[in-house]
Amino acid sequence: MAELKNIMRIDGGVPLNGSIKAQGAKNAALPVMAACLLLKGGTLTLDNVPDLYDINTMRELLKSLGVNIKDLAANKIALEVPEDIKYEAPESLVRKMRASSLVLGPLLARCGKAVMPLPGGCSIGSRPIDLHLKGLVQMGAKIEIRSGVVYAKADKLRGRRIYLDFPSVGATENLMMAAALAHGETIIENIAREPEIDNLASVLGSMGVPIDLEGTGCVRIKGIDEVSSGCDSVIPDRIEACTYILAGIMTGGHITVNNIIPDHIDSILAKLEEAGANFSVSKDSITLFNNNKRLHAVSFRTMPFPGFPTDAQPQMAAALSLAKGVSLIEESVFQARFLYTDELNKMGADIKIKGDTAIINGVEELHGADVKATDLRAGAALIMAGLAAKGITQVSDMVHVWRGYEAIDAKLKSLGARVELLD
Ligand code: UD1
Repeated sequence: MAELKNIMRIDGGVPLNGSIKAQGAKNAALPVMAACLLLKGGTLTLDNVPDLYDINTMRELLKSLGVNIKDLAANKIALEVPEDIKYEAPESLVRKMRASSLVLGPLLARCGKAVMPLPGGCSIGSRPIDLHLKGLVQMGAKIEIRSGVVYAKADKLRGRRIYLDFPSVGATENLMMAAALAHGETIIENIAREPEIDNLASVLGSMGVPIDLEGTGCVRIKGIDEVSSGCDSVIPDRIEACTYILAGIMTGGHITVNNIIPDHIDSILAKLEEAGANFSVSKDSITLFNNNKRLHAVSFRTMPFPGFPTDAQPQMAAALSLAKGVSLIEESVFQARFLYTDELNKMGADIKIKGDTAIINGVEELHGADVKATDLRAGAALIMAGLAAKGITQVSDMVHVWRGYEAIDAKLKSLGARVELLD
């Protein structure tokens, strides 16, 4: 994909109006792309893959391991995997994107060995992968960490019962993929219940893996000797959809977001209802009605699915910065996910951080300022604030935003926003 510009200039104060379609989910596309590595000669065809920096990083990573990638149509790709692939993930790509660690499970199961630099922390917290490694060791892998690099070996992984100490999304995905080629049945308990897990189960099913998501935080996978070519589609991006809905609310707009699965955003819709937002939900869309009234303050805690998603926390905080009253948000998933609040305060928000809680004292209006995206969702929250603010906002370090939002400038323009990209 082409390099995108690093600053967004927003002339705020215009209510968003119109309809857009949610993109395919970044966090679903990354693991299902990694699942192609289970193939020994074969093709995994995926539809609704968003065009994003993180997807590009996964493409580069898969290519570096020997996968050939064909673009069949817009957002539709074929991942062609040869008989022999490499088993070492390049450090430059793993450092670029933590989700690169999703290749560990399938590589180890398929090649009998894998070498992967530890992804390290990021601006939202320390983010270890101990649960991924613990599960692989329980399945019989020998793992050594030397100079920050994971060396994993297992002639044949063995299926077994694994209990995750925390319902980690990445650990669940890595272990599900590893279990697909293990000897015997693997039962993983206390798994993540995010919709992205169902998407991965569906893709593995399309590759012939007998897999049973029991819907109670448990998955059963019968390991097979070889997976077959498969074909599936990526689910809609619930976090992107919510970002636009919240931007619509903040600007007093009237918008429809199509191509969503409303069940995936129940926790957010429940909070919006409690805060007094005016919207209607259909089978696959949500429409927000002209909301010139301010939201009421609401409080919540981020939690694994079906709780309120940490990935929508900064955007919700931006919306609540304009609500009537004091909202409290407790961040319980990541350690340091409030860096963006200093930037929002530059725009006139009144947010204080006490431990893992943000205390948001709603203000009547925000004003434009020069602010910096500290991470992906922080960048989205600042853009939303800029759309609602009086005057000009410049959001720099858009590189973070391009990791997760396809054509955000074009989508916002189509809703009437005055935005432009600058070098
Ligand atoms: C995924 C999402 C990310 C989202 C997060 C939580 C992708 C590509 N990324 O990240 O956008 O914010 O889920 O919904 O899907 N942990 C450990 N040890 C581990 C693994 C995780 O301590 O081995 C901790 C993490 O540090 C974090 C928490 O568990 O505090 C949640 O992490 P996890 O669910 O694994 O998130 P990711 O898969 O990294």
